[in-house]
Amino acid sequence: MAFMSGFTPYFIAVFCVLIVCFWIQLQREKKTKELKGESDSTSKAKPWVDQDLQDDTEIPSPNQGDDEEDDPGSELDLPHVPYAPPRYAVDSMLERSRDFYTLLNQRRSVRFISPEPVPREVIDNVIRTAGTAPSGAHTEPWTFVVVSDPDTKHAIRTIVEEEEEVNYRQRMGNKWVKDLAKIRTTWVKEYLDVAPYLLLIFKQTYGIGTGGKRKTHYYNEISVSISCGMLLAALQNVGLVTVTSTPLNCGPRLRVILQRPTNEKLLMLLPIGYPSDDATVPDLKRKPLDDIMVHI
Ligand SMILES: Cc1cc2nc3c(=O)[nH]c(=O)nc-3n(C[C@H](O)[C@H](O)[C@H](O)COP(=O)(O)O)c2cc1C
Repeated sequence: MAFMSGFTPYFIAVFCVLIVCFWIQLQREKKTKELKGESDSTSKAKPWVDQDLQDDTEIPSPNQGDDEEDDPGSELDLPHVPYAPPRYAVDSMLERSRDFYTLLNQRRSVRFISPEPVPREVIDNVIRTAGTAPSGAHTEPWTFVVVSDPDTKHAIRTIVEEEEEVNYRQRMGNKWVKDLAKIRTTWVKEYLDVAPYLLLIFKQTYGIGTGGKRKTHYYNEISVSISCGMLLAALQNVGLVTVTSTPLNCGPRLRVILQRPTNEKLLMLLPIGYPSDDATVPDLKRKPLDDIMVHI
């Protein structure tokens, strides 16, 4: 024991040296990260706005720093007003819930679209409906680009088919391509020329406030996705069809030809029209309520 206690001061000294070395190493790593411009993920990560793919056409302007947020002070005195939406008797609620389910249960993704013209005002109203969606802090982070010009539709088709061919042949991999076989999709997208309207929905990853300052768009992807769901329901309500498409790797090129700013990222591309007379859909079945609901 006496022999051991003779060594104690040496152990303490070695222990202290180790702690100091460890601390110096930590400081060095921190400094290297700062020089590389990497942020401290715990203090700076913003999962509600940062989950967006960067694209190589993005050139941040000098006045778009992270810390340049718009001042929300002007909205602090927003009045709150009474709200009394219609209330239905129970029978009526049951009937309405059944009817609405029946309507939306008839919705299908349709890849055969008629060139027959669709009244423009209907499309406007469908987009108005999508614009009623809830959004993080009411930032309304969506842009709906309606394309009916034949040349622009064709340019979009060219880009989508070029990228989709690479997707199917290389990027998606065998499993994904096999999972899609039952739907019989390929990279050929005739509907992009034929449909009277193409609707390209962009999420604004941040807004531009007064004086060019950045405005945080909280949960922008979730907000725009909700809005797209409402838009699909609105299309079904007027008897129009579409196919939800999220063409992989096409976003940056489509954004450029549609002249959208760099804060906007393509979320969805919807061809819209009446179904063609010979339209078919895969005979898919939907999961029953018991498989999708848990009641606790
Ligand atoms: C996020 C998302 C992306 C999709 N992307 C494509 C696509 O790129 N091309 C396509 O033909 N269908 C696409 N679809 C449509 C699905 O294949 C379709 O919704 C699914 O097969 C179910 O069929 P239904 O919509 O007729 O119920 C997509 C659907 C969703 C929700």
